[in-house]
Amino acid sequence: MDAREMKVKAAEVALQHVEDGMRLGIGTGSTADEFVRLLAEKVADGLKVQGVPTSERTARLCLELGVPLKSLDELPELDLTVDGADEVDGALCLIKGGGGALLREKIVASASRQMIVIADESKVVETLGQFPLPIEINAFGMTTTKIAIERLAGKLGLSGEIRLRKSGDGRFTTDGGHHIYDAFFGRIPDAEALATQLNSIPGVVEHGLFINMASFAIIAGPAGARTLKAN
Ligand code: A5P
Repeated sequence: MDAREMKVKAAEVALQHVEDGMRLGIGTGSTADEFVRLLAEKVADGLKVQGVPTSERTARLCLELGVPLKSLDELPELDLTVDGADEVDGALCLIKGGGGALLREKIVASASRQMIVIADESKVVETLGQFPLPIEINAFGMTTTKIAIERLAGKLGLSGEIRLRKSGDGRFTTDGGHHIYDAFFGRIPDAEALATQLNSIPGVVEHGLFINMASFAIIAGPAGARTLKAN
């Protein structure tokens, strides 16, 4: 199986958990896109679901393929969210936001009774942090916010560059109109402490650490898919 086939495999297994009538959070990224494609086929065959997309990008794909959508305000409580991840550890803590959709992804996941993560084996890690941690920030006072993040990181024994995400010649802007610092910590031994304390910095809108949010993960490898539950 190549990388794309593994994403499709994980998405196929996740789709088995989707039931008629469900209110579904729909993730963002290349793996979530495969889920949308398979979901659209089921919808065309008669499956009734209402989807809440986690990004404008996912909304466009759903609309293109005929997956019915609602806003989160129309459906404030969801049955299930299926989404990808940039890293998954053994406790099912995640780094998300490589695609920049972390804020909506976290709001949608927190509105869901269950969150299923779909990923290939390359996303499974012993300790989070090799993937740069996305931190969504308000544009006002960005440098002050960066200094506060660096101080907090230092107190937690973390170091590494904190780099403003770029898009073309300018800054990357999220669907919510914010920007992203990618924190190259390398290793985050206490993700829970970092997650809590980042949220106490005024300019931080949200960060890509998802702690205790995933119900389980479907991990696809060359030999097929396995379910990863929190250890
Ligand atoms: C989007 O902001 C991210 O959280 C994605 O879920 C994550 O980057 C995984 O994307 P891929 O499935 O493309 O690896």
